[in-house]
Amino acid sequence: MRIRVDEEKCQGHARCYGFAPTLFDIDDFGLSRVVGDGTVPTELEGAARLAIANCPEFAIEELSD
Ligand code: F3S
Repeated sequence: MRIRVDEEKCQGHARCYGFAPTLFDIDDFGLSRVVGDGTVPTELEGAARLAIANCPEFAIEELSD
């Protein structure tokens, strides 16, 4: 599983970071980005799906590759 954050949609709600602090970084402007290339370790897939489902801006997406 691999995810990304759409920088144009992210408004800095930081719920993603709350669910999965090792998968997301919050930058100086309060916006989120994925750590590394967004690859999600198997044991964190549940947390990643919670982050996707709970982002109010629908800014997190699962990549299909
Ligand atoms: Fe941004 Fe959504 Fe996270 S708005 S900071 S990707 S919860």
